Amino acid sequence: MNLEYQRRRQAVLAAIGQGTAIFGSAPTAVMHNDVEYPFRQNSDFFYLTGFNEPDAIAILAPHHEEHQFVLFVRPKDKEKETWSGYRAGVEVAKETYGAHAAYPIAELAEKLPQYVENADRLYCHLGDDLRLDQHILALWRRLLTKYPKRGRGPVAIEDSRLLMQQFRRLKSASELEHMRRAVAISAKAHAHAMDIAKPGRYEYEIQAEMEHIFRLEGALGPAYPSIVASGVNACILHYIENDCQMQRDELLLIDAGCAYGYYNADITRTFPVGERFTPEQRTLYELVLEAQLKAIEAVQPGRPFNEFHDAATRTITEGLVALGLLQGNVDTLIEEKKHKAFFMHGTGHFLGLDVHDTGTLRNPDKTWQPFAPGNVVTVEPGIYIAPNYEPAEGQPDVDARWRGIGIRIEDDVLVTETGHEILTAAVPKSIVAMEERGVTLGTS
Ligand code: GLY
Ligand code: MN
Ligand code: MN
Repeated sequence: MNLEYQRRRQAVLAAIGQGTAIFGSAPTAVMHNDVEYPFRQNSDFFYLTGFNEPDAIAILAPHHEEHQFVLFVRPKDKEKETWSGYRAGVEVAKETYGAHAAYPIAELAEKLPQYVENADRLYCHLGDDLRLDQHILALWRRLLTKYPKRGRGPVAIEDSRLLMQQFRRLKSASELEHMRRAVAISAKAHAHAMDIAKPGRYEYEIQAEMEHIFRLEGALGPAYPSIVASGVNACILHYIENDCQMQRDELLLIDAGCAYGYYNADITRTFPVGERFTPEQRTLYELVLEAQLKAIEAVQPGRPFNEFHDAATRTITEGLVALGLLQGNVDTLIEEKKHKAFFMHGTGHFLGLDVHDTGTLRNPDKTWQPFAPGNVVTVEPGIYIAPNYEPAEGQPDVDARWRGIGIRIEDDVLVTETGHEILTAAVPKSIVAMEERGVTLGTS
């Protein structure tokens, strides 16, 4: 049995006291008719069990006398396994996955009450699986009607996703090993993209070669749909068509990373398709890079989560004012969110089993939570000047030479005891480093 999963469950069992936590596996998703997408387990479920099948439910019941960890799973079925692959079944759920008790999923209604009736509260995430919700709510109502005579039973429901964020936001050594591998494979793919991107090639060719490396190196595949956006396409934040032919004077923005053992990398680089930045592309690139470096500096243990975004926002706004693309007092522009015309997204997010990983950022009193050692966060400021940009009232028009430029630079950063480590440091991003990579980047 994998001790790390056991340790994770023990931490959650200790945190929920007299409660019972119920976790559902991910649903299967139909691609078309009777063909399904490859199954991807729910991240909380996987974090606690390592169990990688659909139609499963995990229960944590610290107050139960015998079974603190229970799995409901698909039973063994020779014929179904011939068509759709291996099922662990109830015996392996106990022996290999460490469940104190395991049952066929069809017995949920019959067996669930014993794990819930003496809890003082339930932890579950309502809204993902309506059938499971119905089971839980029907049981909840039944137990509530009995509460006056029994004097015990669950009287509150808390969200299990919020419960899990306190654990998942701190990455363990083995989680970091997976993330480093995901990053290393993704870094190799980005470096290769810099070698092969040339005028006349198509965006999907670059995507194909990167994703080829992902699979070849043992990754599950892309962590999210790869964005390979040349020219004006880079101004669409989630551009995934990747079907345009790349032209000489364009930039290529690539936001792509792989998933390795369910752990994700998330990396963006932007560089010229041809050999040179135009002067405007270079100016904006240097500004985004300056903003990114300042933001990374603010990723430190104890520093509140908002500070790295504030650092990026201030640098970009000051730069845009200096270039005449925004006008006014920098503080006022930021306060009125005028920078959002060009930098419309946040500066980063936690990264882990989910690309946009779990972790609350703000406290009820509106203060921001501090970074802590073990957090992994992306740092990804950008500037996007849409071809059809329309200035807000009081703001200057933007000359055609600036339009259609989209730039984002994204690294994955681990917060350490003493500062931070840029996990994605191997992917070139300074103009000098990209030149060393063989991308010849003069100014035309
Ligand atoms: N690739 C998604 C993101 O950067 O958040
Ligand atoms: Mn990204
Ligand atoms: Mn990201």
